[in-house]
Amino acid sequence: MEVFRRASGIHSPRQVTEDYSPPMQPLLKDQSLLKTQAYAAGHWCDARSGKVLEVRDPADGQLLGSVPSLCAEEVEEAILAAHRAMALWKKEPAGFRSKILRRWFDLIIEHTDDLAAILTAEQGKPLAEARGEISYAGSFVEWFAAEANRIDGEIISAPSADRRILVLKEPVGVCAAITPWNFPSAMVTRKVAPALAAGCAILVKPASRTPLSPLALAILALRAGLPEGLFSIITGEASVIGSAFTKSPEVRKLSFTGSTEIGKSLIRDCAGTVKRVTMELGGNAPFIVFADADLEAAIEGVMTSKFRGSGQTCICPNRILVDARVEERFTELLATAIRKLSVGPGTMQGVMQGPLIDHSALKHVENLIDDAVTKGAKVLVGGKRHPLGGTFFEPTLLTGCTPFMQLARCEIFGPIAPIFTFKNEEEAIILANATEYGLAGYFYSRDLARVWRVAEALECGMVGVNTGFISNAASPFGGIKESGYGREGSHHGLNDYLALKYLCVAGLGS
Ligand code: SIN
Repeated sequence: MEVFRRASGIHSPRQVTEDYSPPMQPLLKDQSLLKTQAYAAGHWCDARSGKVLEVRDPADGQLLGSVPSLCAEEVEEAILAAHRAMALWKKEPAGFRSKILRRWFDLIIEHTDDLAAILTAEQGKPLAEARGEISYAGSFVEWFAAEANRIDGEIISAPSADRRILVLKEPVGVCAAITPWNFPSAMVTRKVAPALAAGCAILVKPASRTPLSPLALAILALRAGLPEGLFSIITGEASVIGSAFTKSPEVRKLSFTGSTEIGKSLIRDCAGTVKRVTMELGGNAPFIVFADADLEAAIEGVMTSKFRGSGQTCICPNRILVDARVEERFTELLATAIRKLSVGPGTMQGVMQGPLIDHSALKHVENLIDDAVTKGAKVLVGGKRHPLGGTFFEPTLLTGCTPFMQLARCEIFGPIAPIFTFKNEEEAIILANATEYGLAGYFYSRDLARVWRVAEALECGMVGVNTGFISNAASPFGGIKESGYGREGSHHGLNDYLALKYLCVAGLGS
């Protein structure tokens, strides 16, 4: 595709002229939701340097717009404005914060179609999946609107009669968030909603490939009545903004969703000012199918979890471990299901799998398949670039995989389902845990005792038992080992934005 050969990245000066109309804009009911300015220090702005970052549709490389590439100084100004805005916000009654969040949720749901259209245009996922993500994104706002009212302190029994011990929960301070391109909307609300509920201000640096969805969310937050300067969308280069965030003494917490490699470097950079960090990092999820499993249900689970976002999620099954006794039947059923996946642009009716995000993602999955095949794997379905061209890749089923293949050790982040076999439960657990990651794990079994044994033995933060779908606002999302720490969603997700302060009240008499 010719369009993919065009250079993309940073340009100076602003290349998209005022009368440029992005291709999906006429399709939006509310065209003002398509914003290509950053929202920093309480106002919509361009970069003072005039530098911009282009945003392109991964399905055809078409230019959708360009957003400002802010410099470190502009980020620092936004941080100071956030600090000022937070001083008032944290003093508001919880019910006030809750009502604004609730109104934001209502607006997100009301504008689902437009938000989904923007999301599909810049990220590529099918429209139905994009609508699902908007509902998922909204659910965090709804959840934390309610949680805002439940930030309760504590009274602890004191060691002497003349004292009382009280524990207050206070907002942790100005927060910064760096969000990924695979869930451009949901990963923003999962961080912003608890921060605002807790009384914090938050600055978000969205992925450079997908800033339009977060900007649209910010418009709706302002319409909901959120005071200026509390929630900023800082667009630009990751290294410039990341470094301004981590160096700033005003930023007291950083929340990051992305690769383990970048996460480790952010943790190191946050050490300088001893920030609190929440890290949602890479995964290498095992999906175990025991011989006693309901195989049809297990197929449904794999299809839901493996091919969500074209396999580009941190919790996609990376290794499908199947009891050797049921491998033949399971593989047959899975091959049939995968062959039914229709691939195409996310805007096309009936499409179930969109493009990969870019050419380096495409190359990555190709390399993994080459490596696996060289080491003995067989391609049963797919295995190559899709005839549509661009970054479309065929949904792929590999059999005969072993732990020595690269795909067993790294995040696949693409539509490859690799099958490994095991002989007994003990071997399954050893294989499943043989990774430095510990985000999600899944298994299918109808044996109750085994369900508990395996759930407890798996080294990961989240386990799907007889289900491939574990994401929801009510649950604590997060990992262990090199998949990170901190939890998002549930009441635990709020704690990450709160600091405890203990009051020792003395001199009360005996
Ligand atoms: C992720 O892959 O980064 C998040 C997935 C989810 O929330 O379901």
